[in-house]
Order: sequence, then structure tokens, then C-alpha cells
Amino acid sequence: MTKVTTHQAQEDARNDDILIYLDGRIVPKAEAVVSVYDSGFMLGDGVWEGLRLYDGKWAFMDEHIDRLFEAAKAIDLDIGLDRNGVISAVLETQKANGMTTDAHARLMVTRGVKHRPFQHPSLSRQGPTFVIIMEHSKPQIPRPITLATVPHQRGLPMTQDPKLNSHSKLNCILACIAAEKAGADEALMLDVHGFVNTTNACNFFVVKKGAVWTSTGDYCMNGITRQKVIDLCRANDISVFERNYSLVDTYSADEAFLTGTFGAQTPVSEIDGRQIGTGTLGPMTERIRQLYKDLVAAS
Ligand SMILES: Cc1ncc(COP(=O)(O)O)c(C=O)c1O
Repeated sequence: MTKVTTHQAQEDARNDDILIYLDGRIVPKAEAVVSVYDSGFMLGDGVWEGLRLYDGKWAFMDEHIDRLFEAAKAIDLDIGLDRNGVISAVLETQKANGMTTDAHARLMVTRGVKHRPFQHPSLSRQGPTFVIIMEHSKPQIPRPITLATVPHQRGLPMTQDPKLNSHSKLNCILACIAAEKAGADEALMLDVHGFVNTTNACNFFVVKKGAVWTSTGDYCMNGITRQKVIDLCRANDISVFERNYSLVDTYSADEAFLTGTFGAQTPVSEIDGRQIGTGTLGPMTERIRQLYKDLVAAS
């Protein structure tokens, strides 16, 4: 049986023939290759950003570009393009692929090709490698997914700050593997104090007695979808709290859902073998999905 994940889109044969942006050139997928000396391949030394195209517009483009530049500055990486240059690269790739809606772009910037195969950043001398993979991507009607808590934590900011969209996702990947081995679709990760924090690839929310809860935000990705959901709740008189809460609070939630650019809001049916609410898409998650859809259409 095919696994359910939060990054599941309908299979689309057109993705076999997409064009990729690679350092200022648009090349066929088969020719879009980087050096084995690339800092991203060798060390996971780079940052990335994921964007979604709806009806001709890249949703929340400004916020995504802000976060990309923030991450690049944090790792002391010169992207080699300014904001307009990055936006032009996205639009150029979109045009080359003739995409008008239902596409997902992964922007990746690494420290570039290294002179020798070692860690020191000064060995990356040729400037950054900048790639955009843009795929046709229509998310399926969200099927509720199952989660398992795992021993891998969202750590403190001084150890690879969880707010950094770094190329190296090993902590998240190990969490995902552990969840899969426990029979779940994705991992629910706790923070260093044992409070419920986030999943390996998305932000996490619960609904309890009509109120929406999410973590304080201290140990998770500052998700753009997460913030939009919080803002939408505030604007629509839905009580929303960014707070510490435990698994005890979580198992007894009426609903739980994940947020991310790729899948918007994905319902959760089960956590650690406990059914959440009715185990289906709940009314609050459905309402928030609609509010988010309207926001995307209006923005
Ligand atoms: C670990 C993690 N959490 C959450 C998210 C969701 O963030 P956003 O809503 O900005 O797509 C991402 C996506 O980059 C992520 O990698």
C-alpha cells in the first residue's frame, strides 16, 4: 500500500519533462546535475524554501523570500542574487515550464562547489549553487494521517536552530524513519522539555473545546502557513493559543491538523494509536482550510 504523507500530490507524468533552474540556466531535468564537490551534496551546507503556485500567483511570496534571505544571512551565505533576482528566477522557471497553477517550487541555495572535500566554508570558492525545482503538484483531498511520537527532539537554537530551513534535514529524517517503523505516517516531535512541538515536516495544531492550540513556536520552523492560521483565527474570533502542552492534552484533543505550504492543512486521525476526535476531518480544521483558501485567493 502506498504510504500517506503530508507531501503527497497526484502523480503527474509532466514532471518527467520539467525544466530546472540551475545557476542562471534553464535545463532539462536529466541535465540538471551538480558537482559531487557541491557543499550541499557533501555536507548539507545550504538553505532552501518551498513555495506554492495557486491560480497564477505564488502564495505569500514576500514572506518566503524574507525567510530565504534570513536563513542565508544566518549561515553567512551570499545568495548571489537580490530579492528581485530570486523572484525573476522563479518567474523565469515558471514561464519555461508553462505553469499557471498547482505547482510547487523548491528553491535551494548551497555554498557551492568546494575546492577540496572538507568542511571549512572557505573551501567553497566558486560562489553559491542556486537551483529551483518546480513541479506540477496538485495536492490530493487531504486524507487524515497518523502520527507517532519519536525520541528525536526539536532542539535548542544553539544546536542547528530548528527555525533554519537548512539543507541538512537529518534530524527530521531520523524522526520520520522512527515514526514509519512505529507504523505511522509521520513523526510528532517534542521539544527539549517534553512539550508537543511539531512534526518532522510540518507545524502541528490541536483543537480543544472550540479553541485552537499550537506550540509556543520556540522550537519549530516559523512556518508561514502556521502564522497565517494563527492570524486567520484571530481575525475570525476563533480562540487561538501559542502555549506549552503535553501529550496528555494532545491525545484528548477534538481535532488535530498539520500546516505547511505544500499541503495547507492536513487532518490527523491518530497519534500513538489513540484516535483523535472522530478520526476524520473535523469541523474546525475544515473551517480553517476554507479561510486559508479564501486568503490565498484574495492575496
Ligand atoms: C520542519 C518544518 N516545519 C514546518 C514547515 C512548514 O512551513 P511553511 O508553512 O512555511 O511551509 C516546514 C517547511 O519548510 C518544515 O520544514
